[in-house]
Amino acid sequence: MTPTQQSLHAAEICRLAPVVPVLVIDDLALAAPLARALVAGGLPALEVTLRTTCALDAIRAMAEVEGGIVGAGTLLTPADVKAAKAAGARFGVSPGATDRIIGACEDEGLPLLPGAATASEIMALLEKGYTVQKFFPAEQAGGAAYLKSIGAPIPQVRFCPTGGISLKIAPDYLALKNILCVGGSWVAPKEALATGDWAAVTRLAAEAAGLKRA
Ligand code: 3PG
Repeated sequence: MTPTQQSLHAAEICRLAPVVPVLVIDDLALAAPLARALVAGGLPALEVTLRTTCALDAIRAMAEVEGGIVGAGTLLTPADVKAAKAAGARFGVSPGATDRIIGACEDEGLPLLPGAATASEIMALLEKGYTVQKFFPAEQAGGAAYLKSIGAPIPQVRFCPTGGISLKIAPDYLALKNILCVGGSWVAPKEALATGDWAAVTRLAAEAAGLKRA
């Protein structure tokens, strides 16, 4: 899959809803009900971070949930890319971007949302053909004000910022022309997962799904 095709797929996924839930799943039993609750609230694209021992199994379980499009986050190595694809991930997300990760995703045909945080990193990805990028860690790296500024010299790159974004500040990002969606973990709070309060997750998802984009 070429970088252009990768970006087209990434853009389609980012356009599905204003928010992509970023999920850290410690208990495999929670994976399917969590996915159902988020999809029911209107958030179909789900990023499962490869940070827990059951993450790949969680992707497998969530990939079965109707209406969901499950991707793998925290891709750090080509082995992560292969394992994510084999588990049924439909897209990948990496906190930064290396030639090895990019090459592995292109070889595996896994649409990648590659991470960048500086003008040079954004330009390096653009040179390769990646016009849709993750901006990470969004709040710490300059937030919506930074992305607004970068949109002046580099308007052809669109972003999914993640890191430190909440329901309250998401509109600041979503109001910008160069933002396709935002990522965040706030729609799946630990307390709701611990108590299996799926109605609460669906309410948070619906609230997030209702956010307006530029
Ligand atoms: C992450 O990598 O954990 C994501 O960027 C989500 O960050 P958040 O928990 O601050 O939403």
